[in-house]
Amino acid sequence: MQIEEIEHMNEHNRLDDMRATALQGGGQAQIDKQHSKGKKTARERIETLLDTDTFHETDMFVTHRAVGLGMEKSHPLTDGVVTGWGKVDGRIVYVYAQDFTIYGGSLGKEHGLKIARLMDLAYQNGAPVIGLNDSGGARIQEGVDSLAAYGEIFLRNTRSSGVIPQISVILGPCAGGAVYSPAITDFIFMVENYAYMFITGPEVVKAVTHEDVDFETLGGESIHRARSGVAHFTGPDEDAVLGQVRLLLSYLPSNNLAPAPYVPPQDSPTRETTELEDVVPDEPNKSYDVHDVINLLMDSDSFLEVQPDYAQNIVVGFARLDGYPVGIIANQPDILAGVLDINSSDKAARFIRFCDSYHIPLVTLVDTPGFLPGVEQEHGGVIRHGAKLIYAYAEATVPKVSIILRKAYGGAYIVMSSKHLQGDLNFAWPNAEIAVMGPEGAVQIVFRKELANGNAAEIKAEKTRQYRQEFANPYVAASLGYLDDVIYPRESRQKLIAALESLRNKRQATPPRKHGNIPL
Ligand code: HXC
Repeated sequence: MQIEEIEHMNEHNRLDDMRATALQGGGQAQIDKQHSKGKKTARERIETLLDTDTFHETDMFVTHRAVGLGMEKSHPLTDGVVTGWGKVDGRIVYVYAQDFTIYGGSLGKEHGLKIARLMDLAYQNGAPVIGLNDSGGARIQEGVDSLAAYGEIFLRNTRSSGVIPQISVILGPCAGGAVYSPAITDFIFMVENYAYMFITGPEVVKAVTHEDVDFETLGGESIHRARSGVAHFTGPDEDAVLGQVRLLLSYLPSNNLAPAPYVPPQDSPTRETTELEDVVPDEPNKSYDVHDVINLLMDSDSFLEVQPDYAQNIVVGFARLDGYPVGIIANQPDILAGVLDINSSDKAARFIRFCDSYHIPLVTLVDTPGFLPGVEQEHGGVIRHGAKLIYAYAEATVPKVSIILRKAYGGAYIVMSSKHLQGDLNFAWPNAEIAVMGPEGAVQIVFRKELANGNAAEIKAEKTRQYRQEFANPYVAASLGYLDDVIYPRESRQKLIAALESLRNKRQATPPRKHGNIPL
């Protein structure tokens, strides 16, 4: 039934009929089409995301006002986006879900302004916004009005950044403006098989660049999960993805002034982490998986990794220590020996800035040989990208605690939450090596002449031993006050918990300025 027909019904039935019509979206045939692709409808998605029976809809009766191209003939209620608020684990969230059954979820003026009004409510009331996106982008029939509405959303995305968490879930094809709003938000989720994100679709690509590419290869889940770094979380189906959204929210405060949720821990704060004594090999060139360190240190089963398949030489994510959320940044010796490079710097810097915005303490686990040398990195702007990581750590005023597990060489030592960038508490394990560079490289440079003129192998072995003894250990840094303590692996969990407890009320003022100028 169309709104035009309902208008002529008697008042008694009018509200019921209008509600029933709105709930039908673009009609049963369109709903069936959506289901036949394995997709849920907008309303089913909201139901899956929220606590049972907590959704309150806003703007159900809004319709478009466009004329031309046949638009005046039909005015579907909701205008293709379901908006409202509800609860996740008992906490208020604002949610919008684009309805692909109405004009392909495309964004016209009223559709866009509905989202903008919802974002205003969320901003004023200090609650997260979750956008469930399934949209053909700007509604072609509404022309510049559609573009204007996108502008209203981008403006609010930017204004809300660092004030309320913003989460975007991509559950269908998203093109043009439909990807730029998510890109400004804090976290992007994508479902496998039918979620796509691109600025322009395969047909436009073909026309402009003559490249033949399909949807999946251009902007499918696997591309944005592992190649572009656009997506932070992905899942095999909508239930899994929406479940992950709920899980992520369990670590996040509702706004920048609220505390992150405390969950009474199942794990003991005094548990010794003796297994850690065997995880990190003594040999500096042997790899290991830093996930093992994270999982042993944090409350059991509490680690939620962000961007697990992108720039895997650094691991970032949320976890809990004695029930309190923390953000983890850890070099990953298993991948490229844990070097810092362009993508890992970008990934970690953005994560650090998120945590800093929402006062989630940073725990940094350091084991890196430094920045990756090479033409590709230099030409790709590793200077500019690496600078983001320095900037993010230096700028962060949340509690910052670090443990140097093994290697911390050169620039990477300074970058990774060091005392010099206002790390609050810095620890190292006894086997840590903190120096300008590793023993092999240092000996090669400092003793070049001796190596050339004598028994190179013998001299190298002796000088390396000497260097390790004098420089590549944690005690030089500890003697200078650059480390607060050298600790055993087994006492590390207890130490982290105690450290963060001591820093819980940290508030650090920053100089008055409009904003800094992070190297982008
Ligand atoms: C109006 C649209 C639409 C749009 C889809 N539809 N996109 N209507 N404006 N942008 C309509 C279709 O006409 C169709 O209506 C219905 O939605 C379903 O679309 P289909 O094409 O049948 O579905 P599917 O085959 O699944 O393909 C989905 C799609 C494709 C990949 C999204 O429709 C598509 O390529 N759309 C255009 C994408 C695009 O280029 N958007 C503009 C981006 S520019 P009927 O009545 O037949 O059911 C932009 C500018 C902002 O967004 C930039 C800001 C930075």
